[in-house]
Amino acid sequence: MTGSDSVRDAPQWTRLIEVDRCPLGKGVFVEIAGRELGVFRRDDAPRFTVMDNSCPHASGNLSGGEVAGGTVSCPWHHWTFDLETGICTHSPLARVKVYACRVSEGVLYADLAS
Ligand code: FES
Repeated sequence: MTGSDSVRDAPQWTRLIEVDRCPLGKGVFVEIAGRELGVFRRDDAPRFTVMDNSCPHASGNLSGGEVAGGTVSCPWHHWTFDLETGICTHSPLARVKVYACRVSEGVLYADLAS
């Protein structure tokens, strides 16, 4: 295998938000690097989900949705998305992009190229 055959470059972590600004069990809207993201501090593992904020149905604001049982429900028409995979629980054809994330020294980072 040559260097150009590598599967993927190392993660590139983008600073998103201080963990203290993320209430447990709710979403927070974060706009950064030209992207609109929903950040969810979950009360189940893993602790955080970072996903695109726009609902694939009609662009509802997912960060304003209700979080329960590892899912977020869009506030507009209540499509529900798994916070682990971003897949809609009503139809696997609808999906929201979920990004790798990590916490370091009280700050949440995401790999927006993941
Ligand atoms: S815009 Fe999200 S369910 Fe309709």
